[in-house]
Amino acid sequence: MEQKIKLLEQKKSEALVGGGEKRIEQQHKKGKLTARERIKLLMDEGTFEEIGQLVVHRSHDFGMESQTFYGDGVVTGYGKINGRLTYVYAQDFTVFGGSLSETHAEKICRIMDLAMQNGAPVVGLNDSGGARIQEGVNSLGGYADLFYKNTLASGVIPQISAIMGPCAGGAVYSPAITDFILMVEKTSYMFVTGPNVVKTVTHEDVSSEDLGGAITHSSKSGVAHFATTNGLDCIMKIKQLLSYMPQNCEEDAPVLAYNGNNELRPNLNSIIPENPNQPYDIREVITETVDDNSFLEVHQNYAENIVVGFARIGGRSIGIVANQPAILAGVLDIESSKKAARFVRFCDCFNIPLIVFEDVPGFLPGTDQEWRGIITNGAKLLYAFSEATVPRITIITRKAYGGAYDVMNSKHIGADMNFAWPSAEIAVMGAQGAAEIIFKKEIEEAANPQDKLKEKIDEYTTTFANPYRAANRGFVDEVIKPEETRIKIIRSLEMLKNKVAKLPRKKHGNIPL
Ligand code: HXC
Repeated sequence: MEQKIKLLEQKKSEALVGGGEKRIEQQHKKGKLTARERIKLLMDEGTFEEIGQLVVHRSHDFGMESQTFYGDGVVTGYGKINGRLTYVYAQDFTVFGGSLSETHAEKICRIMDLAMQNGAPVVGLNDSGGARIQEGVNSLGGYADLFYKNTLASGVIPQISAIMGPCAGGAVYSPAITDFILMVEKTSYMFVTGPNVVKTVTHEDVSSEDLGGAITHSSKSGVAHFATTNGLDCIMKIKQLLSYMPQNCEEDAPVLAYNGNNELRPNLNSIIPENPNQPYDIREVITETVDDNSFLEVHQNYAENIVVGFARIGGRSIGIVANQPAILAGVLDIESSKKAARFVRFCDCFNIPLIVFEDVPGFLPGTDQEWRGIITNGAKLLYAFSEATVPRITIITRKAYGGAYDVMNSKHIGADMNFAWPSAEIAVMGAQGAAEIIFKKEIEEAANPQDKLKEKIDEYTTTFANPYRAANRGFVDEVIKPEETRIKIIRSLEMLKNKVAKLPRKKHGNIPL
């Protein structure tokens, strides 16, 4: 037995060094951690259990039979994060550049199956040269198996992808199907075709970083939800992100102990400027309302005219969607609609109540928006809110104009509780635009058209630029002082915590993609 145990130990220690000390050194030189170092940081101490440590590839082409490494370029297993079961796979760049072989894919798929069967999230730490070139179609098949599993798992368990090195070609589509993508600045990139192909086809000169680095994808394309500064920062962010989520679609997110639930927040009374056209930062409203230091913004640098993110209120996880008057006056456009729609759908998948702060002057006009499809894209957000069955609460802080009033979680599309601040203006459009249209003739024919216009603007403002018409109709449940916002949300969530809402029986809806 002693000999046999020795052999086992030898194999295990061989597995632990992946592609060998030299390649580990190269990995470190590039400013990257190894797969095992990443897992160690991610998982609660001593909880990680590896699965498939001694798996090797089955390839016999190009002399591959003489080059095998235990684990075949991916470390897979389970453990605990924040005390909760989580499955993980981490691609090992020191073994064939972390490239994906048939067996490598099988290992990841096994983790996915276990995660789905046992209802726990999957975290993928990606660092890979893509398809294992020596394996040809076997590798492509492996990718497809993975994409399929990602799709089946979508909405069942949270799936998080961290890109911590290369992720190129078709390989990008696994992270793309998952719920959240985090990237590491300067050491990671994602693209369908790299700079060389781009140069050949379009004659553009672009670096990997500019084409598909963390900053590009978290600000320009929106592919990545978070840009992180290094491997450690990335892993800490994953842990924080998971803390807001339930384990699976059948459970609720954990509720943290919180003292002093019901305090008023008087600072909220002085955020809205006197001039209704002056911007303010909606993040101030959010952070004043939610539990201290609990707000985690998602997609912070992409489509900044809408703010989305997780927070806690009275210890409960919530998803926040808020128009941002400080950017483009908080208007809805293609990017902001897509960003918010995807976030709303994530929260709805995983039973996270939605809180909406509304200050929106409408949809962004112009040929650019129309030609690129603001109709279809704006409809995504409308659809996402309409089909969401989680508790949904809206607070109208200022403008709620036009179609955007309907879209931003109005009562009409199924919101549970709608509150408005006394500064709310709920109307088809701004007073000036409205007066110019409906009193056009009267203004033109007036002895002093400017005075007449002002008179009509005042008239429209008095009639509609307030929350009371909507409150009279019951479209707003209560007009509240801003300082009461937190209490009202906490009490509403308590009241709604057993909400049961069912959609009509269907195979699945057909969201305008
Ligand atoms: C097999 C690979 C590999 C791959 C890298 N390696 N990529 N082995 N298949 N795809 C190996 C290298 O041979 C090398 O082995 C080790 O990994 C490290 O690679 P280096 O090139 O030395 O590292 P670096 O300079 O950091 O460059 C990394 C890289 C480059 C940019 C990822 O390796 C590269 O361009 N690889 C090929 C990328 C690619 O074209 N992949 C296929 C994409 S198509 P040694 O033994 O020297 O350590 C695709 C389709 C998926 O993925 C489709 C799904 C639908």
